[in-house]
Amino acid sequence: MDKKKLGFGIIGTGAIAGLHAAAIHACEDSELIAVCSTTEARAKEAAKKFGVSADHEWERFFERKEIDVVAICTHSGNHLEPAIAAAKAGKHVLLEKPIEVSVTRADELIAACKSAGVKLGVIFQNRLKPGYLQLKEAVQNGRLGKLLLGTAAINWYRDPSYYSSSSWKGTIAGDGGAALINQGVHTIDLLLDIMGDAAAVFGQVRTMVHDIEGEDVGAALINFKSGAIGTITGGTALYPGNPERLEVYGEKGNVILEAGKIVTWNITGSTGELPTSEIGGSGASDPMAIDYRLHLGQVQDMVDAIRENREPLVNGEDARKSLALILAIYQSSREGKQISLH
Ligand SMILES: NC(=O)c1ccc[n+]([C@@H]2O[C@H](COP(=O)([O-])OP(=O)(O)OC[C@H]3O[C@@H](n4cnc5c(N)ncnc54)[C@H](O)[C@@H]3O)[C@@H](O)[C@H]2O)c1
Repeated sequence: MDKKKLGFGIIGTGAIAGLHAAAIHACEDSELIAVCSTTEARAKEAAKKFGVSADHEWERFFERKEIDVVAICTHSGNHLEPAIAAAKAGKHVLLEKPIEVSVTRADELIAACKSAGVKLGVIFQNRLKPGYLQLKEAVQNGRLGKLLLGTAAINWYRDPSYYSSSSWKGTIAGDGGAALINQGVHTIDLLLDIMGDAAAVFGQVRTMVHDIEGEDVGAALINFKSGAIGTITGGTALYPGNPERLEVYGEKGNVILEAGKIVTWNITGSTGELPTSEIGGSGASDPMAIDYRLHLGQVQDMVDAIRENREPLVNGEDARKSLALILAIYQSSREGKQISLH
């Protein structure tokens, strides 16, 4: 017997909502029911584009019985309120990165989903890039030995119009900061997923080129709980922007990913050939150079997590880690000292 498709609703109908709609449409186990924007015209426009119902009033949207999962595509500093409304209505929550813009708001969000007994999944689609999955498998199987050093470099560029055309990007209230929390967070999430939790961080961030509240250049030195060390560099002022890199060094070798693709695979006992597979792109200079198939993977994972009553690939606690680390980098930069993470 065919399993019933899970109904999805999307709240927030800006740039990323289109990828969610494409992914939900492409997934055999999900169906897009409605979209919600507080601006009626925008809701109608998105609904027409995606061939679904439009809501501009939250009550109506969250009351829809056919919606099992709400995909939250509002700006980063406005994930909490729709998540609480969804959880209260008994809907599972699939949120865009970063989970929120402060640890207090993230904790409130996680607690609301927990107490309502709904699943909370957070989009970090680069976790599903084939090159990253191969690196993770090699680390889990001990092929790199004890990990010593991990570096994440997200040295990107955004044109000034990227910020001037948005009401929230680069603002503290809407974005939580800028280059690290918005763009860098993807690779920082991967760094933590591979290297384990951070114990302490020393960071410096600056606003050097753009007219924004948040940083457009940043660097940090991390002590991981495992004893390994790491670095992060990031920016949106680093013209013209290079593909992001993740470098992982262990006792038995190292692996380097560029935009999720393996460019170095130097592991003791390997043949010297690069494992090759590629999906997705890099947002080095183009914010929307993203492949919807990775979002599709997370939509499918969310459906499976609900059906199997397990945690999604990236749950609230996982997503909180990259947020807490980035906010600690900001704090370190303000206070000029190393910050411990608890
Ligand atoms: N996974 C990725 O690679 C990726 C890429 C881009 C953006 N994002 C994330 O997606 C989120 C949205 O980014 P975007 O670029 O689509 O932003 P955007 O500004 O294009 O869209 C945000 C939309 O949310 C709507 N909105 C705001 N408050 C609302 C409310 N209370 N109710 C209903 N709608 C509301 C706005 O009207 C706007 O249409 C951010 O958290 C961002 O970090 C993720």
